[in-house]
Amino acid sequence: MNTFGTIFRVALFGESHGPAVGVLIDGCPAGLPLETSDFHADLARRRGGAPGTTARREPDAPLLESGLFEGHTTGAPLLIRFANIDVDSRAYEALRGRPRPGHADLVARQKFGGFADPRGSGHHSGRLTVGLVAAGVVAKKLLRPLEVAARLVAVGGSEDIEATVAAAQASGDSVGGLIECRARHVPAGLGEPFFDTAESLLAHALFAIPAIKGVEFGAGFAAARMRGSEHNDPILDVSGASQTNHAGGVLGGITTGNELLFRVAVKPTPSIRLPQRTVDLGSGAPAEISVGGRHDACIALRVPVILEAVTAIVLADLSLLAGRLPRALTP
Ligand SMILES: Cc1cc2nc3c(=O)[nH]c(=O)nc-3n(C[C@H](O)[C@H](O)[C@H](O)COP(=O)(O)O)c2cc1C
Repeated sequence: MNTFGTIFRVALFGESHGPAVGVLIDGCPAGLPLETSDFHADLARRRGGAPGTTARREPDAPLLESGLFEGHTTGAPLLIRFANIDVDSRAYEALRGRPRPGHADLVARQKFGGFADPRGSGHHSGRLTVGLVAAGVVAKKLLRPLEVAARLVAVGGSEDIEATVAAAQASGDSVGGLIECRARHVPAGLGEPFFDTAESLLAHALFAIPAIKGVEFGAGFAAARMRGSEHNDPILDVSGASQTNHAGGVLGGITTGNELLFRVAVKPTPSIRLPQRTVDLGSGAPAEISVGGRHDACIALRVPVILEAVTAIVLADLSLLAGRLPRALTP
């Protein structure tokens, strides 16, 4: 369903063009100082408006509606809500009978019997990631001094990000991207040997971000072309510090204490102006679609802060499970 986590549990709610979107965090430790200004920097990094991103302007003002008293978390569920202000659903009327290739229109219709809200992609919208970023702010604060930082490395296979996005946008097309994420000061020992490995829980949560199509840890897929003598990270001391980090900070499903390192592939935005083949749902006949409205030409531009948030959410949950984070913080 829409909930992730064992102790630090995150549930996303809302639709892109409904009244609001947001996140409900259950299991957040009590005693964390929290105010709306804590959210501003990360929310600004996710917001649209820059070249290559959606023209939709949302203030993204977080409403902290439960779980907070006198500036501290109480240990009760923390509800963070964002009103949708800049809503324009006109472009979606034309799409109702013609599902967009690469988007969730058709599968959502099939799975939910035609009841899914299609406006602005409904619950399948990138807008829902504002709740992830908000939960990430809380998780990052809980995890200090642990630091998570993600950056866009390339778009469309090129490091010239601005020019590549501009060229795709000018031609009515979109472009994908590659993002690298690193977390420092991750303690050794988080994660379990089999199903709840640190890698599998991170991948589970990362693939919840719309448009993520690949995740690799450390050397990742390049490991398949390497020799053991090259891939093995020489161990420098009894703490497990290693000379290289082809493992990406996880061995046997358990964090090693070295930097956590992974990359994700973000696909090109499905909604593009260029004509594409689809089907007319009324007649079943082949049809053509050209998608107007407000869209990101390159989703990857807005994803780094979302990756950081998801990483922090997973690490906060694992830290609580390992007893490294208490259920109530001491003042
Ligand atoms: C921050 C963000 C912004 C997005 N913006 C758009 C957009 O403007 N237009 C679009 O078609 N898809 C956009 N998407 C991607 C779709 O939500 C996603 O491709 C779709 O839900 C199908 O899911 P999938 O790609 O994971 O299979 C965005 C995703 C994110 C994370």
